[in-house]
Amino acid sequence: MKRPSQRSNTLLTRSAVLSTAISAAMICNIAIASEAEITDPIAHGEQAHKTHCYKCHSDDVYTRDNRFVKSIDALSKQVVRCKEGSDIPWFDEDADAVVQFLNNKYYKF
Ligand code: HEC
Repeated sequence: MKRPSQRSNTLLTRSAVLSTAISAAMICNIAIASEAEITDPIAHGEQAHKTHCYKCHSDDVYTRDNRFVKSIDALSKQVVRCKEGSDIPWFDEDADAVVQFLNNKYYKF
């Protein structure tokens, strides 16, 4: 009667160790991903923009006749203003990437 229960204890311990190792590996991956340099800012900016920037307006504001952003500097300020107005969790690098994406696709300063 003793042996089977001992065996299952061993199994339990093994799987606990394994799942701890997997969790640790996942945490490491997340840390590495968030510290990685942005290698393609325009693609990164496009993705970040798609995820966070369609809550209040569509792309139409970037192409309308009376758009008010008239320089790269103003674009950068407006992106930061819009970001801060809605608690979007970006680092400066993310906002810069979105500026590059918008400039490349719409403003072309
Ligand atoms: C909380 C609502 C809100 C969110 C979210 C938001 N914006 Fe805006 N955005 C505005 C408003 C309001 C305007 C001004 C629109 C107008 O004047 O008609 C604007 C205007 C702009 C303009 C200027 C357009 C022009 O006339 O040249 C840019 C660029 C812009 N937003 C970028 C962004 C980006 C990038 C994001 C994502 C970080 C974003 N917005 C998210 C509210 C928002």
